[in-house]
Amino acid sequence: MTRPLHCENLPLTDLAEQFGTPLYVYSQNALTKAFSAYTDAFAAQQPLVCYAVKANGNLSILKHFAALGSGFDIVSGGELARVLAAGGDAGKTIFSGVGKSEAEIEFALEAGVLCFNVESLPELDRINAVAARLGKTAPVSLRINPDVDAKTHPYISTGLKANKFGIAYADALDAYRYAASLGRLNIVGIDCHIGSQLIDLSPLQEACERILLLVDQLAAEGIVLQHIDLGGGVGIIYQNENQPDLAGYAAAVQRLFAGRPQTLILEPGRSLVGNAGTLLTKVEFVKHGEEKNFVIVDAAMNDLMRPALYDAYHHIEAVVPKAIPPFTADIVGPICETGDFLGKARTLTCEAGDLLAIRSAGAYAASMASNYNTRNRAAEVLVNGSSVQQIRRRETIEQQLANESACL
Ligand code: LLP
Repeated sequence: MTRPLHCENLPLTDLAEQFGTPLYVYSQNALTKAFSAYTDAFAAQQPLVCYAVKANGNLSILKHFAALGSGFDIVSGGELARVLAAGGDAGKTIFSGVGKSEAEIEFALEAGVLCFNVESLPELDRINAVAARLGKTAPVSLRINPDVDAKTHPYISTGLKANKFGIAYADALDAYRYAASLGRLNIVGIDCHIGSQLIDLSPLQEACERILLLVDQLAAEGIVLQHIDLGGGVGIIYQNENQPDLAGYAAAVQRLFAGRPQTLILEPGRSLVGNAGTLLTKVEFVKHGEEKNFVIVDAAMNDLMRPALYDAYHHIEAVVPKAIPPFTADIVGPICETGDFLGKARTLTCEAGDLLAIRSAGAYAASMASNYNTRNRAAEVLVNGSSVQQIRRRETIEQQLANESACL
């Protein structure tokens, strides 16, 4: 038999047998390596890397990053609860997002987050009011929209004038002046985020230049910042993208930061977890249709939404390649939607009962899963060398129904 695909030292066939499918499998070593890529590239800056929890909020993954010294970028009270439950440091946690509720602001202030990344003037008012009510001072950074085209998928491009995020570049100085006029705010930083899955990093550099221009203008007015947060991380290779030049970007940042006292903060998500994860799925049926062939698997768009939502490509391969003629098929799930596909027109060899590995499924995969079609969310395991730990049990139908009642 051909050697099956492995995660570190463990055959994926063994993991499927032990934990069932669909199954998310993560490599701990790959998580560590991805984190070090940032701390190594930016070593001169000694940055605070704040892992973007939304990419994958599993408690064990958060705990692993916390142990590596990571801070966290959160976008909800729920994500803050995850960070705290995983033993993460609130003092290294920044709270992003356009719609923070009063309850979430209160929770974050009580927990002692490093700062709020504020996206509008009404949000400044709200944070100021909650801080006053609690007798506290709130640390804030303003998210400035540098109006740079990130050249990525429109759904994940965030730094353009037309996006809902951040404060317009032209309004930035006034927004800082306004923040300085509010008694319960402590201005600590500036932040931006232009988009996700960036392969060409020149827009990131351009955004950095524009942000630093503002930092200097603010300093001239006596508003001195403690940190500069350049937002999310670089893209990853899903198919045949070029390798983003992290070292080149880091060198440009180093040049631009020369002589500046501020701490550099980065908020990478995808690049820390994306290629550390595989979604393992079993072939239920192979259906040879009139126009197309379909490989129907036990994972679906509720497990991995990216293909349906963004037409995203994830590489799919047989865990144990067979000596049978390859054929071309759409890889689809059991959900009753034409959009329920995981891959289109893929050439592979497989039969019913075989296992397929869906690659690059560590980021925005399990964290975006849903219960559509009343499907239980998948189990997750973390592999470290030759050992494996289940880090999320497979959901049960009882858990799904627990919050509902059949009243009339
Ligand atoms: N910081 C902020 C404020 C963000 O909005 C994001 C991602 C990040 C950091 C992390 O960016 P990254 O390093 O992962 O590029 N669901 C989509 C991605 C949405 C990204 C949203 N913001 C996908 O599956 O491609």
